[in-house]
Amino acid sequence: MAQFTLPKNSKITKGHKFNAPEGAEDVKNFRIYRWDPDRDETPRMDEYEVDTKDCGPMVLDALIKIKNEVDSTLTFRRSCREGICGSCAMNIDGTNTLACLKPIDEVKGDVKITPLPHMPVVKDLVPDLNHVYAQYESIEPWLKSDTPNPEKERLQSAHDADLLNGDDGHGPAACILCFCCSTSCPSYWWNGDRFLGPAILMQAYRWIVDSRDDATGERLDQLEDPFRLYRCHTIMNCTKTCPKGLNPAKSIAEIKKLMVARQA
Ligand code: SF4
Ligand code: SF4
Ligand code: FES
Repeated sequence: MAQFTLPKNSKITKGHKFNAPEGAEDVKNFRIYRWDPDRDETPRMDEYEVDTKDCGPMVLDALIKIKNEVDSTLTFRRSCREGICGSCAMNIDGTNTLACLKPIDEVKGDVKITPLPHMPVVKDLVPDLNHVYAQYESIEPWLKSDTPNPEKERLQSAHDADLLNGDDGHGPAACILCFCCSTSCPSYWWNGDRFLGPAILMQAYRWIVDSRDDATGERLDQLEDPFRLYRCHTIMNCTKTCPKGLNPAKSIAEIKKLMVARQA
């Protein structure tokens, strides 16, 4: 069951209903979480009937149609529309995913849309990502090298590049930082103040295994902590949820193996 952080002392109430236009051929009902911090009101679920015959195939297409044609106050993030930017992450039909990659016809019955679970909400479907980006900054996600900058790029063997990109393109460097995984992780829900969560740990691993980076020991030291890394209990929600088909649980397991290996 999806959970997300509500404004204090509030419960979700029934909201407004926007009926389909006359003559609509194939009506789908979208139930969407609404909350505006500038209005002194509890959150509500608004309902929008959309004619899917007159709409693109993805949930993001319906959200854009609703915003353009029915209710311009509906607020959500999106940019690329192609599963590249990670900004349209939200909970659709009980699963964290990207609205631009989620076909409407995959959802049976009403399409229920709420923000990513267990994140503070800025407005409607927009989660507050300040904390998770501060955690991202804490792993220092940039190349640290002891050697002077070369004249051209720093070269890497095909094997070493595969550690980042994966031989199938699904390696840790393919992560788009949508945070569907971190917000599906029970350990992150309850200890997100100190546990880094799967998205950030996979990025940490991406730099740890980068053959051009010389700060491996320092990076592992920074993760050697009962909360930052070891709150992962291998529940695997993260890997099951990733809309890009990546495997953050495996990256976390690899970090743990490296921790053991350096103590041996
Ligand atoms: S494998 Fe670890 S990070 Fe992934 S969902 Fe489970 S506890 Fe969270
Ligand atoms: S691992 Fe997948 S779900 Fe997690 S942030 Fe990266 S792309 Fe999103
Ligand atoms: S709009 Fe960029 S990932 Fe969905």
